[in-house]
Amino acid sequence: MTVGIPKEIKNNESRVGMTPAGVFELVKNNHTVYVQSGAGEGSGFFNQDYQQAGATILDTIGQVYAMSDMIVKVKEPIAEEYNLIQDGQIVFTYFHFASSEALTKAMIRSKAICIAYETVEDEDGSLPLLTPMSEVAGRMAIQQGAKYLEKPVRGKGVLLGGVPGVSPGRVLVLGAGTVGIQAAKMAAGLGAQVTILDVNMKRLRYVNDIMPSHVVTGFSNEFNIRKHIKTNDLIIGGVLLKGAKAPNLITRDMLKDMHPGTVIVDVAVDQGGCVETTKPTTHEDPIYIIDDVVHYCVANMPGAVPYTSTVALTNVTLPYVLKLANLGWRSACKLDRSLEKGLNVVEGEIVYKEIAETFHLEPVFA
Ligand SMILES: NC(=O)c1ccc[n+]([C@@H]2O[C@H](COP(=O)([O-])OP(=O)(O)OC[C@H]3O[C@@H](n4cnc5c(N)ncnc54)[C@H](O)[C@@H]3O)[C@@H](O)[C@H]2O)c1
Repeated sequence: MTVGIPKEIKNNESRVGMTPAGVFELVKNNHTVYVQSGAGEGSGFFNQDYQQAGATILDTIGQVYAMSDMIVKVKEPIAEEYNLIQDGQIVFTYFHFASSEALTKAMIRSKAICIAYETVEDEDGSLPLLTPMSEVAGRMAIQQGAKYLEKPVRGKGVLLGGVPGVSPGRVLVLGAGTVGIQAAKMAAGLGAQVTILDVNMKRLRYVNDIMPSHVVTGFSNEFNIRKHIKTNDLIIGGVLLKGAKAPNLITRDMLKDMHPGTVIVDVAVDQGGCVETTKPTTHEDPIYIIDDVVHYCVANMPGAVPYTSTVALTNVTLPYVLKLANLGWRSACKLDRSLEKGLNVVEGEIVYKEIAETFHLEPVFA
């Protein structure tokens, strides 16, 4: 099969769909890989690295789309790419169809095979191609939170690790899922006092088993949240209700109970956020302040660390890419039920129930 890796053209996206290690594996399996010139530069991978791994470098995005049976990328295609996608071409990437009718209609028109990273689902309901980005965001949340606790950026002026003779900072983590656990781990590593709240006792038991004793668990309810926000320096929002808006666990009136300079990093911003005052921000302008509380609400946190994010993402996508290339999409999806769940739009039809419902269309099952 011919596999194409275009350069991402969405604003501020520096990740790339495949590393030279992925190219090497595909070439070893007798596939041909076309990489658009400069596609990996933002993530620290150069044309020469891809060529050494066995790829052919093409000058334009048009050539990559025209010459490839399968396109592997990171972000959903944007309008400039719609007409490059061909009938029967496999496109394996994040799509988030439910949030864009224009994209959904364009992919229906293209008659391509659209396999979405975000709906590839394991038997236990986990989403293996979303997990690495949550891991990145969870770890990064503490790094960003620590920075915005500094006084020159209007934080409280607290060093999370403390120093001899001064207590460490206090971190409240809402949600003990992937984001929450990674955040708690980083905060604990810095020496902070960490409280992690969830409504799922299994998650809390797990945290209690694996974390050091300065990470304490609690049940997430309004009473406990109101109590903890008064004393914590940094609050991380990492809750998720699958497919729904995140619950507003911190309401506007609660901000006045926090110390001035408290920092909220609402990682759940991409699902509407778990703080009433959350609104999406960008890496260019990541924070805003309401009632003296610093809000960091960047919706694509992993985009700031493209090297780590690209490697983390491609580690988990590559086995599926290999399966698709070796077997073709029909056999690969028949053999691998997780991958089959990734089928969203196939040859002009929506095949994923929730997406069809979003646009009031009838799903067709492949
Ligand atoms: N901003 C970004 O760049 C970025 C990057 C990656 C992930 N995310 C988002 O971060 C959020 C968390 O992702 P995840 O992978 O950790 O999800 P997850 O499913 O692994 O964990 C979510 C946790 O929230 C808990 N929860 C649900 N309701 C709760 C409540 N009322 N109080 C406390 N906990 C509650 C669940 O029990 C679960 O343990 C998602 O919205 C995800 O899309 C954002």
